[in-house]
Amino acid sequence: MRKSLFKKEVYAERRRRLAALIPGSAVVLPAWPEFIRNHDTSHKYRQESNLLYLSGFDEPGSCLVFRPGQTPETILFVREKDVERETWDGFRFGPQAAKDVFGVDEAFIIDDFEEKAPQLLRSCDKVYYSLFRNPEFDRKMSEVLKGVAHLNRRSNPGFPPVEDAYTLLGELRIHKSEAEVEALKKACSISALAHQEVFKAARPGVTERELHGLFLYSVMKQGAMGEAYGGIFASGVNAVTLHYVFNEDVLKEGDLFLTDAGAEYLNYSGDITRTYPVGGKFSTPQKELYSGILKVQKELIEMCKPGTPFNKLQEHTVEGLSQLMVDLGILKASKNEVVEKGLYAKYYPHGVSHLLGLDTHDAGTLSVRSQPRAMEAGWALTIEPGLYLPHDDESIPEAYRGIGIRIEDDILVTQEGPSNMTAEMPKEVAELER
Ligand code: GLY
Ligand code: MN
Ligand code: MN
Repeated sequence: MRKSLFKKEVYAERRRRLAALIPGSAVVLPAWPEFIRNHDTSHKYRQESNLLYLSGFDEPGSCLVFRPGQTPETILFVREKDVERETWDGFRFGPQAAKDVFGVDEAFIIDDFEEKAPQLLRSCDKVYYSLFRNPEFDRKMSEVLKGVAHLNRRSNPGFPPVEDAYTLLGELRIHKSEAEVEALKKACSISALAHQEVFKAARPGVTERELHGLFLYSVMKQGAMGEAYGGIFASGVNAVTLHYVFNEDVLKEGDLFLTDAGAEYLNYSGDITRTYPVGGKFSTPQKELYSGILKVQKELIEMCKPGTPFNKLQEHTVEGLSQLMVDLGILKASKNEVVEKGLYAKYYPHGVSHLLGLDTHDAGTLSVRSQPRAMEAGWALTIEPGLYLPHDDESIPEAYRGIGIRIEDDILVTQEGPSNMTAEMPKEVAELER
């Protein structure tokens, strides 16, 4: 039989924390649907992260209903056991084993969801459900909500209020528990070691695709489930495309090589970017840009402490990268003008950080009523400044054209300050030169 990734007590504890936030309400979390790749073959399945977070259940065709304080409190709807289907697609838990292994109070088959859910939700003041993310399930939920109104008849003919479960779960997921930190650190370490393997193999004549393959081999050999997102293996001018995913070029002497890739371990994500010279030596313009970005990146990591407003990271990045571009003559204006007029955005168009966890771009609210939120111990986030200078941009000095550089580490905010979970992959100029 398959197992749960964490002990069932881990999920029970998360549900206890959630219960304290929503007395009298219920949460409904459906699985993602499967996506057809072609004909009768599906894309690799990945469970919806909130459902994983509260139950650990990773099969499609499932849904969790959690009603704090009621009996039963935690109900899992799952696919029925089906010997014939299991011969083709492998093991399914079915209701009984799902109940035993995942420690829920009750489990039913998913085909009964629309019939049973109105009764379960009838006694709840409010329903937390993420609308508009899963249209197929939205249709089921609309029938269920009509069902609740129907059951209540004249005693309360309205529909139960629905609030976004995504925001609610984000508030829990933004604070990483000990078990999560352990999984994240392992995901980061596996990612860093795989980046080292790629670094050792990246030479002129090697293809981006084989380096992608090497990364996948390394993380899976180390026990990861695979990559946490489509890895970016971008040599030369390809690195100027932020999400270059073709990985179909050949590495050339004189070019830089940018790798943005991370392992998924116990469903937690690593997310590292490194950029280094294919031929083993930075050219002077490459080194000027790289060193400048690295300096900003290190300053940003130092800012990852409890109390720092999250938006300060972006502000500092804009200041630092703008100054760098002015100093190198890439932008011909004063630094203040570059910042105020947003001229930097042509070459630095993205955010410098995102939360990290079960999702690479993890759940959690970073501003409340438009006010930036201060970092807290237990947050995990990336720090990833970069510059992307198009090869055909005649407004910038020729020496810098066609260079794309990003440097990305994964940081855990602790009471003692920033803890860099991806430090095992070197980033100093001297370490990246052969
Ligand atoms: N790999 C996506 C990101 O760095 O955000
Ligand atoms: Mn990344
Ligand atoms: Mn990232």
